Amino acid sequence: MTKLRWGMIGGGEGSQIGPAHRLGAGLDGAFEFTAAALDHRPDAGRAYGQTLGLAADRSYGDWQEMLAGERGRHDRIDLVTVATPNATHFEITKAYLEAGFHVLCEKPMTMTVEEGEEIVRIARTTGQICAVNYGYSGYSLVRHMRAMVARGDLGAIRLVKAEFAHGHHADAADADNPRVRWRYDPAQAGVSAQFADCGIHALHMASFVIGQEVEKLSADTVSCIPSRVLEDDAMVNMRFDGGAVGRLWTSSVALGRQHGLTLQVFGEKGGLRWSQEQPNQLFWMPLGGRLQTIERGEAKLSPEADRTSRVTIGHAEGMPLAFANIYLDLAAAIRAHAAGHPVDPAADLYPRAEDGLRSMAAVFAVAASGRDDGRWVDARPPMFRG
Ligand code: NAI
Repeated sequence: MTKLRWGMIGGGEGSQIGPAHRLGAGLDGAFEFTAAALDHRPDAGRAYGQTLGLAADRSYGDWQEMLAGERGRHDRIDLVTVATPNATHFEITKAYLEAGFHVLCEKPMTMTVEEGEEIVRIARTTGQICAVNYGYSGYSLVRHMRAMVARGDLGAIRLVKAEFAHGHHADAADADNPRVRWRYDPAQAGVSAQFADCGIHALHMASFVIGQEVEKLSADTVSCIPSRVLEDDAMVNMRFDGGAVGRLWTSSVALGRQHGLTLQVFGEKGGLRWSQEQPNQLFWMPLGGRLQTIERGEAKLSPEADRTSRVTIGHAEGMPLAFANIYLDLAAAIRAHAAGHPVDPAADLYPRAEDGLRSMAAVFAVAASGRDDGRWVDARPPMFRG
């Protein structure tokens, strides 16, 4: 099978998320790293691309030059990942979709709900794949939680509790540090800081696992460090369209917490608990039974988990392998798209533009509710209402 050609925008030298994408895309041999515009400084991007092994004529200075260069080639890239700062995602994703490329966009997909709706419409009209990198949904045991809920192991879901609370912006003396300050500045970050950055991961994971979408929410948003305009902590109560109650806590001042992404799901027949910092164990409590540990890599967990477990049981798998599972899904989707075949349901789990849009609607709902003392507000994008 020939490799798919993969391109990347952003993710340059020293970036946080670039290496995880390159590890993830490269793991299965499905993608060949072929083209990139890696840095906001054209020369640095060109040079780093060549260091990573790109041909000189496909290590571009910026995304426009890359679009112009790639669109006319017979061997053009099959997928482009957008891993630039948030405010650029919409413009770049839109341009590549319209030019006929499949896109994996980093989160948040856009800065507004209207932009999110436009991306969904373009993806639907062009038929191009537009994925959003809720990469933590690629963990094997997260896929297994989803499978357990879908096959009825938990019965009806009563409650889902999601957290993404870390302590990396807890130092008040750091509030003026330019690398931190922009995140809490509405002019640069938009209407929300912590919920838009981290809360949407927790929300996506909750929706993904229980197979329900948030309908309405009530948010308590605070700036624990008073000089911040936007929130550094939020507690969000939610109601989902399948009847589940949701509780979500996100924070950047929770000292002592590291990454801090966890999910608990409580149904009529059992409860599940998973933490991203120990991603290879899942705790399962069946009603009337005993608390059990499910290990990633156990035989025949579920098709979704078996497919996405790569390393022998007992050896740690972490975040780049979760990203690799998103790329594995995308490779299957791109090949099926080209051949006009349906995709194996166990492989058809990558997050979509629709998920990116729902996140944006939730971000604006959290901001509106927080401003209004926690009033319950509709969290659905207008395009998905009634
Ligand atoms: P960063 O600031 O560490 O790196 C950004 C990179 O993009 C740099 O190499 C910079 O030179 C490059 N860049 C900036 N503007 C560019 C442009 N116009 N064209 C080409 N390159 C450009 O940022 P980080 O933390 O890597 O975040 C990037 C994106 O990834 C953000 O949207 C962030 O929300 C998202 N992210 C997602 C995570 C996930 O788990 N899915 C985790 C961390 C970040």
